[in-house]
Amino acid sequence: MASTEDKPANKENASSWKDSFYNPRTGEVMGRTASSWALILLFYFVFYCFLAGMFALTMWVMLLTLDDNVPKYRDRVPTPGLVIRPHSLDITFNKSDPLKYSQYVQHLESFLQSYNDTEQEKNEDCPPGDYFMQDNSEEQVKKTCRFKRSLLSFCSGLYDVNFGYSEGKPCVLLKMNRIIGLMPRGDPYINCTVKRDNPVQMQYFPSEGRFDKMYFPYYGKKAHENYVQPLVAVKLHLSKEDYNKELPVECRVEGSDLRNNDERDKFLGRVTFRIKVLE
Ligand SMILES: *[C@@H]1O[C@H](CO)[C@@H](O)[C@H](O)[C@H]1NC(C)=O
Ligand SMILES: *[C@@H]1O[C@H](CO)[C@@H](O)[C@H](O)[C@H]1NC(C)=O
Ligand SMILES: *[C@@H]1O[C@H](CO)[C@@H](O)[C@H](O)[C@H]1NC(C)=O
Repeated sequence: MASTEDKPANKENASSWKDSFYNPRTGEVMGRTASSWALILLFYFVFYCFLAGMFALTMWVMLLTLDDNVPKYRDRVPTPGLVIRPHSLDITFNKSDPLKYSQYVQHLESFLQSYNDTEQEKNEDCPPGDYFMQDNSEEQVKKTCRFKRSLLSFCSGLYDVNFGYSEGKPCVLLKMNRIIGLMPRGDPYINCTVKRDNPVQMQYFPSEGRFDKMYFPYYGKKAHENYVQPLVAVKLHLSKEDYNKELPVECRVEGSDLRNNDERDKFLGRVTFRIKVLE
């Protein structure tokens, strides 16, 4: 009995559901007339066009204010990180075994290729001791001050092709990471120390481990295509009692306004590495 009563009720439900989608009597689709729908679509169309326009406009204005070469937002005066070559913070080798140090020697040799004297002849012979300021217009390609590898003397690989590794007095090269527009005040130089009681004798190239001001400022990858970073080489004059021990070496940039004691970043203006020479 109940089942026969259910059927018409079901049918009615179904038709009212259908009506709610499309009602042929009023011509409404989902409760709205076609013109009402058209108005709604028009409204959203205009609304989204307006949003897209706003977005494009702000983006355009933003891009207008950007300089291709200089990052817009930087917090305070940046300090470059200090890095070493060979690219290892743990330099261990046997000075009597060329197989053990050849990786370091090869690395240094290939790193110094771009500093070849013949290559660097093409670059500018800048007056030392002062910033090399250049017209900061965008189109102009910036000149580069030359840094010849022969400046690194005994660490240049020219007089000693093994960079001192075979005699147990290894050379390590240091450079500061590039920072656009950086002009360090004072006279930045590298000071390396070995943490132990009697100091290890160090020899720096160029003399006193100085980074000449003429290599600053750097104008950015696009404008300053041939830029070469100045290098400082340090030769560790280790003696017999230094062999077979792990020596912690710390190098810092000193003599300038560049920070070298940031507690959070151990590589800002300084670098720590270990050297162990076996014999
Ligand atoms: C270093 O190399 C030499 C020559 O190959 C070898 O006689 C010596 O035992 C090596 N020293 C160490 C500590 O491995
Ligand atoms: C750099 O100079 C060295 C030795 O003077 C030479 O063997 C090497 O081919 C040169 N490299 C370039 C890229 O000029
Ligand atoms: C290098 O650093 C050591 C230790 O901080 C210091 O005693 C020494 O005076 C410094 N040398 C130079 C030339 O600044």
